[in-house]
Amino acid sequence: MRGVPQFIDQAGARAEDPRTEVLRALSRARASIPPKYFYDRLGSALFTAICELPEYYPTRCEASIFDAHVEEISGVVGRRATLVDLGAGDCAKAARLFDRFDPACYVAVDISVDFVREALACLQRQFPGLPMLGLGCDFTAGFALPDAVPLERRLFFYPGSSIGNFTPAEAVGFLRRLRRQCGPQAGLLLGVDLAKAKDVLEAAYDDALGVTAAFNRNVLTHVNRVAGTDFDFAHWDHVAFLNEAQSRIEMHLQAGRAIEVSWAGGGRSFAAGERIHTENSYKYRPAQVESMLREAGFRLERSWTDAAGWFGVFFATLDER
Ligand SMILES: C[S@@+](CC[C@H](N)C(=O)[O-])C[C@H]1O[C@@H](n2cnc3c(N)ncnc32)[C@H](O)[C@@H]1O
Repeated sequence: MRGVPQFIDQAGARAEDPRTEVLRALSRARASIPPKYFYDRLGSALFTAICELPEYYPTRCEASIFDAHVEEISGVVGRRATLVDLGAGDCAKAARLFDRFDPACYVAVDISVDFVREALACLQRQFPGLPMLGLGCDFTAGFALPDAVPLERRLFFYPGSSIGNFTPAEAVGFLRRLRRQCGPQAGLLLGVDLAKAKDVLEAAYDDALGVTAAFNRNVLTHVNRVAGTDFDFAHWDHVAFLNEAQSRIEMHLQAGRAIEVSWAGGGRSFAAGERIHTENSYKYRPAQVESMLREAGFRLERSWTDAAGWFGVFFATLDER
């Protein structure tokens, strides 16, 4: 795992082929697109841009937690672990921790294969002495780290509140599957967006510049490639709102007029105003995160929040009881 980073692409080996998955979701009475389809190369680049937006507080809040508490956090997670970055994207968050965490190796896992492969190659040039490995896979379908990844001292890093894209039940299922990838002395460092005022939340997912709208609409160009559909994103409007009953931000694409979408062997019509549900982003209270971890077989060791209490970083180990 030294020199040019090895990259293992398992993203094609999914339980269900992407075309079938997408067309099934689009054909339901309430159409949806799984959020993982946001992340083609352009979608990943747009997400990096979202992180720079004034309205998008999660990245800044999470960074402020690491800035304020890095000494304590690195003391708790320990040095020389195998740092496994789940949904690594541009790998920037993990890279900022290398100095203090001093990992024995770094594993970047992401479904956006081209994007993460390039980010990892770039990172390897900056840190030539750190063994690195890339794994392209869809971790919602279950994943197994390759044998090249040491079993001992795996530190799973799952930042950015990506866990919020699952329903609470799915999140527990995901964490349980993750637990099966844990060997001796494993840990989980999880970043979770916390419940807060509606106006702050809604602005974060509907920025004035329209970057989140572009990110949302870009899913249609990705879906066109994956499923052979003929969406024209110009006819779809970005909608984001807080569903207070579910404590989640929902993102949708709304048809600006009546639209016929077709694909080989089928199609469907959308009435003006009809929506495609593209993302949920659940917002939690710290106690809910703790019970989710417990249900999945982890024990919360420590947690930290930013000054406003908007975002939380949670460190958990295996609950062996
Ligand atoms: C919200 S972004 C977070 C990126 C980065 N970790 C951060 O915190 O800024 C979610 C990341 O997870 C990846 N991802 C989304 N769904 C995935 C899946 N099912 N399997 C693997 N990676 C996935 C995306 O490609 C993207 O890089």
